[in-house]
Amino acid sequence: MAGLKPLWLGLKFILQALWFLRYSPYALWYSWRRDQRDRPYRSATAIAPTPVGKGLGASHSDRGVQIDFEQASLELVFLTPDFVRVTWQPGRLPLPYALADRDWPAVATELEERAKGWRISSPDLTINVGWDGGIAIADRSGQLIRQERPPQRRGEGWQHSARLRDEECLYGLGERAAAFNLRAPVAPGQPKTYGFWNYDPGNIYQPGTDPMYISIPVYLGLHRAGSYLVFYENTFRGELTLAHGGADHSPEPSATATFEAGALRYYLAVGAPPLLLERYTQLTGRPPLPPRWTLGYQQSHWGYRTEANLRQEVQTFQAHDLPLAAVHLDIDCQVNHRAFTLDPQRFPAFPQFTAELAAAGVRVVAINNPGIQHNRHSNLFLEGQILDAFCTYADGDLVVAPVWPGRSVFPDFTNPVVRDWWSRQFAYLLQAGVAGFWNDMNEPAAFVAWGDPTLPLATQHCLEGRGGDHREAHNVYGLLETRSAFESLRRHRPQMRPFVVTRSGWAGMQRYAWTWTGDIVSTWEALRQTVATLLGLGLSGVAFCGSDIGGFLGNPGGELYLRWFQMATFTVFYRTHSAISVGHRAPWTYGEPYLGILRRILRLREQLMPYLYTLAWEASDRGYPPVRPLFWLNPSDATLWNREDAFCLGDALLVCPVLGQGLRSRPCDLPPGDWYNFWDDTRSSGGQTVELAAPLEQIPLLVRGGSILPLAEGDTLTLHLYPPSPDSQRSAAGQRLYSDAGEGYGDWRIDHWHLNQQGQTLTLTWQSQGDYAFPYGQVTLHLHGPALGQAWVDGQTAAVDGQTITCQTFEQVRLQI
Ligand code: NOJ
Repeated sequence: MAGLKPLWLGLKFILQALWFLRYSPYALWYSWRRDQRDRPYRSATAIAPTPVGKGLGASHSDRGVQIDFEQASLELVFLTPDFVRVTWQPGRLPLPYALADRDWPAVATELEERAKGWRISSPDLTINVGWDGGIAIADRSGQLIRQERPPQRRGEGWQHSARLRDEECLYGLGERAAAFNLRAPVAPGQPKTYGFWNYDPGNIYQPGTDPMYISIPVYLGLHRAGSYLVFYENTFRGELTLAHGGADHSPEPSATATFEAGALRYYLAVGAPPLLLERYTQLTGRPPLPPRWTLGYQQSHWGYRTEANLRQEVQTFQAHDLPLAAVHLDIDCQVNHRAFTLDPQRFPAFPQFTAELAAAGVRVVAINNPGIQHNRHSNLFLEGQILDAFCTYADGDLVVAPVWPGRSVFPDFTNPVVRDWWSRQFAYLLQAGVAGFWNDMNEPAAFVAWGDPTLPLATQHCLEGRGGDHREAHNVYGLLETRSAFESLRRHRPQMRPFVVTRSGWAGMQRYAWTWTGDIVSTWEALRQTVATLLGLGLSGVAFCGSDIGGFLGNPGGELYLRWFQMATFTVFYRTHSAISVGHRAPWTYGEPYLGILRRILRLREQLMPYLYTLAWEASDRGYPPVRPLFWLNPSDATLWNREDAFCLGDALLVCPVLGQGLRSRPCDLPPGDWYNFWDDTRSSGGQTVELAAPLEQIPLLVRGGSILPLAEGDTLTLHLYPPSPDSQRSAAGQRLYSDAGEGYGDWRIDHWHLNQQGQTLTLTWQSQGDYAFPYGQVTLHLHGPALGQAWVDGQTAAVDGQTITCQTFEQVRLQI
């Protein structure tokens, strides 16, 4: 490999030089033009804040209160007893792009006038609004959960600040290349600012880069008295500044959100983390259940140029006996990087090719970018012009910016007519057998010589007919493009579930698409960052996400690729992808021992499918992210609040990835309970730090005592029973298993097993619901921990083989230990 390095460096140099020659003259011109157009947006004078003034009076409405202040109005609306919407005006209300359609039942509230303001309460929350507009929120037990200072109007926008406790941790904000706990200090004493402006960081995706492709103004706060979630429904450019208090000259720790325009509307929920995610996704929607194949391994590389390349890739997977669910087509499969094209010379028999791959169980996913080549010989461009589909300036000139196809124009997805037109473009690729779409460059990204790599702020948008500029539309551009792709798949293939991947998005994006962490570099530091980023995305409602295994930019070396692969086995989107400027990368690239180890971990992923699919269903049902922080079930355990080097997959598995070169063991802080080592069944009690073995073949993996882990192998489902230790608080375990045809909208079933321990007897019961036939021919029970003595299946003695018994369906199994 070492001998190839100069070759890659040379190739990289040539590619960069070609990029420079092709795009840079226009990038220079565009950057200059953008600055001209945006001159009115660059205000030199600082905007003085305006206070809301004194509260004048309150009126009780059916589900909340309206309070008038001298300079503003405040409305509180309870959506559920623990979830409230707060709106400060003046300012333009947001278009409901983030919100799922839903009716909220009425909530009984009480309003009381008090010495210093008003008190509005529901059965779960008490909210005190002061005369000055300050707001304090207490939970059902009267614990103060959040204290907000009176907001201030700033020009057309708002600034809103909340006090933070010293120990308080914040998580979320969409995709962040930051610590999982967003308050973790980067430089001592420096306030930390996170931007709300979707952004393509180009080649510098590394820890500390901000903002990133997906910025969502939602965060979850956790402190000793409880936890809460805040979502600012404001699409304008903004930021959140976290001050530490003292060292950075701020009087106290605080979180200050600032938006350039729009009303100050936010939603606040109080409760444990799972409940917060339930509420947030009730509001912004839950991810639909994906087709089951999407949870399998997917292979991609920017550099498969021909049908022959891809066929060869798929055949190599088969030759190495490696499972493969899908391959991805990047822009080099298109004609001059043009949207919705596929080069017929390089893909001469595409429908037959996709059918051939489908017969081998491999789906094809195709990339799509929003930038459309400004080309009078392109039908897409001409159609778009006739429809007035492209973004323009206020004087009617088209906004033209360089991106992969060269000089490009950009559909205005804030126009419903354009979304509809765009969604019709997918039809022929779907007919040709493409199974899913990958929306890239949709921040939207533009190539620039300097400044912001996107459209000018002066770009005008339809915004559902009410009009506005790019400051308001930018953050929802990717969301709405993705909505159009999702609706297209629903429309053109109504019997099948859509699979859409997007690089950019905003609140509610989970209703339409999965995401991945973009062009991250191939370093150990980036692998560590990936865990924190995925955890943060999950707490921002984006349940289905993953990363380019091995990193996008760079040649990772066998060990890093392997460790990244092992980590990704326990994340949802499981795909290797790499840049055109780096070496092709697939599970066999590094030979043995890596190939054999990867084959085994890929098999484990296959075995985990019933568990993963159930987690995907749970996300669609409840909004819970499959990848969860260690504090998910134990939010009161402060030792877990900053843990970002390990994660849980569902409630049963604790994954401790190896994040450094040459490491063959690693420490792990165990959450409360007891834990079984997945590989050797050794048991450890929670609440301590244990050193876990991590030979190259193994990722440290633990199973929570009191779990049932379903693993499949062919026609057999094995229920791995991990009973709680006799002295633990848990005496029972439950596991649901969701099954259906894996595609479409037909019958389903949920099997529910419940394990109860009393003395030396374990009782396992099985209940089911739904019409789909149980999909396994044989069920095996494997007991971990205590030695298995006798067993009875529905009252009949069963043959015990070591720790295992084999049975068919049953109502009750008794195990004597
Ligand atoms: C940027 C994307 O992030 C990357 O995944 C893709 O390969 C390139 N664009 C080329 O399409």
